[in-house]
Amino acid sequence: DLPQSAVVIEVGPRDGLQNESNFVPTQTKVEFIEALWKAGFKEMEVTSFVSPKWVPQMGDAADVMRLAGERPGTLVLTPNKRGIDAALDSGAKAVAIFIGVSSTFNQKNINKTTEDAVENLLPHIQALKQDGIYVRACISTAFHCPYEGKINPADTLSLCKTLTDGGVDELSVADTIGKATPKESFALFSMLKKELPEVLIAAHFHDTRKMALANIYAALCAGITRFDTSAGGLGGCPFAPGASGNAATEDVVYMLNRMGIDTGIDLTQLAKAIDVVEPHVSRELTSWYYQSYKKQ
Ligand code: HMG
Ligand code: MG
Repeated sequence: DLPQSAVVIEVGPRDGLQNESNFVPTQTKVEFIEALWKAGFKEMEVTSFVSPKWVPQMGDAADVMRLAGERPGTLVLTPNKRGIDAALDSGAKAVAIFIGVSSTFNQKNINKTTEDAVENLLPHIQALKQDGIYVRACISTAFHCPYEGKINPADTLSLCKTLTDGGVDELSVADTIGKATPKESFALFSMLKKELPEVLIAAHFHDTRKMALANIYAALCAGITRFDTSAGGLGGCPFAPGASGNAATEDVVYMLNRMGIDTGIDLTQLAKAIDVVEPHVSRELTSWYYQSYKKQ
């Protein structure tokens, strides 16, 4: 049975913008975030506290938080102790750590093997939980890796278990390069729901091969009710060659709303939020809903 409601977690200001090479002015990011909240989201990744040498676009994380980080449901990405401290200093109450199943990917993305990254993060997760901070763990390359190819689902489960045992509140399980099929989505999410019934699980699909909506439907059928999506379908990890944008929020919300699955999100207001950022991004926004809104 399909659920009556689903939570759409907006990741546009973070995943959506991190892959844009032209710097989007901080004020535009803030207006984008405010307009997105107005559309009705309850949770949003607004920025990431990563090295500005690695991702210059996110170099204004502290300013973004100062200007737009007050709302409950605000999430920020952090890769290490330095990022966690900066996030907490900026008032963050919820952080998302990120780690790939694939060691080669982790070396490219965070300059650490999977093993070292896990060992490094576990004590910080514990400390965050003691401080009452919500901890989300984004699991990259859960299906496929741009460097190592197909990932063994048992390895994904094992990393998810380690982090859950380590205290994280939520897993966001990602198809980083948009290579999964609905069959793989259904199989992996069914297994994760069965093996980790106590933990919140979100699905994070990139749309490189236009499978994101189908993969989301398959995940819904496996009992997943939380989805990371990006307004305008922007996004992609700069260290995952071939990755394109996330599932476009507006198309996902359209699909869920039409199926009678409540998201609480106002599509017209969402399109207005995309209008704020559209003039500042390098690519054409090709989601069905946004294209048809522009033609009106
Ligand atoms: P490193 O070079 O090994 O680290 O990078 P380091 O400790 O040697 O530091 C290098 C410099 O960065 C130093 O500055 C540090 O102070 C500074 P310097 O002394 O040279 O002037 N630094 C920082 N500055 C600000 N904030 C920090 C921070 N840490 C160090 N937190 C590091 C290691 C992890 C820092 C780097 O690799 C990095 O920032 N990586 C982030 C890459 C990234 O943002 N990727 C995209 C997000 S993940 C994603 O998109 C996937 C996801 O969407 C799910 C999916 O789709 O798969 C979540
Ligand atoms: Mg992503």
